[in-house]
Amino acid sequence: MSSNAKGSGESKLQQITILLVDDIPETRENIKKLLAFESDMKVVGVASNGREGLEQASLLKPNIIIMDINMPDMDGLQATSMINKSVPQSAVIMMSVQDDADYMRRAMLAGARDFLAKPVNIDDLTNTIRTVYKNHEPIRKQYEMSSAMTPADAARVAQALEQGIGERAGNIIVVYSPQGGVGITTVATGLATSLMKKGVRVLLVDADLQFGDVATFLAIQSQITTIEMAQDADDLDPEHFDNVVATHPSGLKVLVAPQRPEMAEELFKRPGVVAQIVSKVRNNYDYIVVDTSHALNDVNLALLDIAHKIVLVTTPSLPSVKNTKFVLDLFDKLEYDAPRTMLVLNKVYSERDRRGATLARDRIEQFLKRQVSVEIPVVDERMIMAAILKGVPVTLAERDRSKPPVKQMYDMAKVLEETLNGEGVPALAELKDEKKGGGLFRRS
Ligand SMILES: Nc1ncnc2c1ncn2[C@@H]1O[C@H](COP(=O)(O)OP(=O)(O)O)[C@@H](O)[C@H]1O
Ligand SMILES: [Mg+2]
Repeated sequence: MSSNAKGSGESKLQQITILLVDDIPETRENIKKLLAFESDMKVVGVASNGREGLEQASLLKPNIIIMDINMPDMDGLQATSMINKSVPQSAVIMMSVQDDADYMRRAMLAGARDFLAKPVNIDDLTNTIRTVYKNHEPIRKQYEMSSAMTPADAARVAQALEQGIGERAGNIIVVYSPQGGVGITTVATGLATSLMKKGVRVLLVDADLQFGDVATFLAIQSQITTIEMAQDADDLDPEHFDNVVATHPSGLKVLVAPQRPEMAEELFKRPGVVAQIVSKVRNNYDYIVVDTSHALNDVNLALLDIAHKIVLVTTPSLPSVKNTKFVLDLFDKLEYDAPRTMLVLNKVYSERDRRGATLARDRIEQFLKRQVSVEIPVVDERMIMAAILKGVPVTLAERDRSKPPVKQMYDMAKVLEETLNGEGVPALAELKDEKKGGGLFRRS
């Protein structure tokens, strides 16, 4: 049995505070006993039904709440969704004797961060608590910061956060390529994090429904995937979406693809559903970056249709450039105006290493009749792989922002910020809700 939160960098005195909510006294006692041996954890309160749990949560603001599902007087699901709204700094772990998929799905949709099957064993219990505690850190930090402020400051921050909800620019950036393996996911994850800065909210959506790699790139384990969100797509509440969707430790919100390829079947029957989800929640974010598969199917066409900017990734190889040409012709037919597409040339060799094997940039530009906006050099692939092993985008794994491909990710973000929010480029203005208007500057 381990004791301290290993490697968390927090002092021994910093304990994970826990609230237990279960209607059966023996269960509460059992868990309490199990946790008594863990020096990095402390049970700070108990409650015997959902209503009491909610009260205690508001009062104690524990780091973790262990919540039974079936209880009299407000069940665990209802209590969890209310806690999610009123005490978002506390993370709920749901507990039930039924550990079937449907129960888990409902728990996660209510906003639980993880699930434990009863009877719980000590290792599952402590491992889950530590993992959830760590994963919830970005959200906790946000609220701890405001609680350390004076009441006036805190009120201002709360107001600012409130204003942010539902009123953001919601720029939709779809990263696409007709060719596989050109670096769509590398660009999408790097770009999403490069767009993040103080006060800017970014959502990354993995729309490569069968073989989506975003969860792997960012080491995200989430029960909430496009499948769960698609089920409620017609009346999806953007605030609820934001509460339950995965959060990367960097603060990036991430909607991951289904866990297995065959699960995507269901979604292909409603190919417009991913675009529908994105449209519904977009005003909760300043930018929504969408990672796609290379298929030219209805899922992607629906996404391209709502995109304010399409980042078209190509490599300097003949097949890639040829396929990119087809796609650009299609965009013309669909009457997408030229500025809507931004051409990114990835895996570019230096002039010296090219040795005539890849196409030169000016030839590509001539052939495609488009300017390349950003050129990303080919880098040592171990750099990207090492970042994936750490579960962070290359932009965060490498501190030196002048190094490729990090520099180019930030360059890309800059071009997008300028063209999407700058004056004179009302990309797809007609798509934006006239009443709400758009643009980051409207908020101030
Ligand atoms: N600029 C680059 N230099 C070297 N390797 C790259 C670069 N961009 C991407 N890769 C590598 O190419 C492979 C495919 O990248 P990925 O982002 O998964 O592509 P896609 O999503 O288009 O299939 C990965 O192994 C990745 O490490
Ligand atoms: Mg990919």
